[in-house]
Amino acid sequence: MNILSESDKNTQALGQTLAGFLKTGDVVCLIGDLGSGKTALVSGMAQALGLKDSISSPTFTLVNEYDTDPKLLHFDVYRINDPEEILMIGWEEYLDNQGIVVVEWADLIQEILPPAYLEIHVTKGEQTNLRIFHLKGIGERYEAILEELENLSLKKEGSH
Ligand SMILES: Nc1ncnc2c1ncn2[C@@H]1O[C@H](COP(=O)(O)OP(=O)(O)OP(=O)(O)O)[C@@H](O)[C@H]1O
Ligand SMILES: [Mg+2]
Repeated sequence: MNILSESDKNTQALGQTLAGFLKTGDVVCLIGDLGSGKTALVSGMAQALGLKDSISSPTFTLVNEYDTDPKLLHFDVYRINDPEEILMIGWEEYLDNQGIVVVEWADLIQEILPPAYLEIHVTKGEQTNLRIFHLKGIGERYEAILEELENLSLKKEGSH
């Protein structure tokens, strides 16, 4: 499923919608160039979960934990040299129903990703602010989420 975004706000709104489908233990993998809008998407998710503050990429800390309900565990693995570094800070425990896990630059830790997750590739369009979000469900749960999301956007289009 592809979703176009024409602004930072659009992308945050998409993040908000997505958050509505997610629960503790879910994993979202974000893949896309620098400045493509990964953090903007996570920011929308955090808002939907009740966070009032703004967020930033946990580039040096590797993970930021937001005390939302459910918790949001925001990883950015851009700077790691080896997936082992993520294992060392307790990756497996984080995946074990601690909250919603979202990972920027997830392609860099491909070998330690769980068997099922929502994969989101972000690419830049021709116009400055255009972004294309390519959503793919890996595993039954995430395929089902995407189906629901598709139904939702069909309904929205229909109501215009
Ligand atoms: N449609 C859009 N969606 C999201 N961001 C957009 C959009 N159009 C322009 N932008 C701008 O692009 C930048 C996206 O930055 P953001 O930090 O979200 O990217 P990122 O993918 O997390 O980058 P990094 O890999 O450095 O963490 C922001 O400056 C934002 O204002
Ligand atoms: Mg970022």
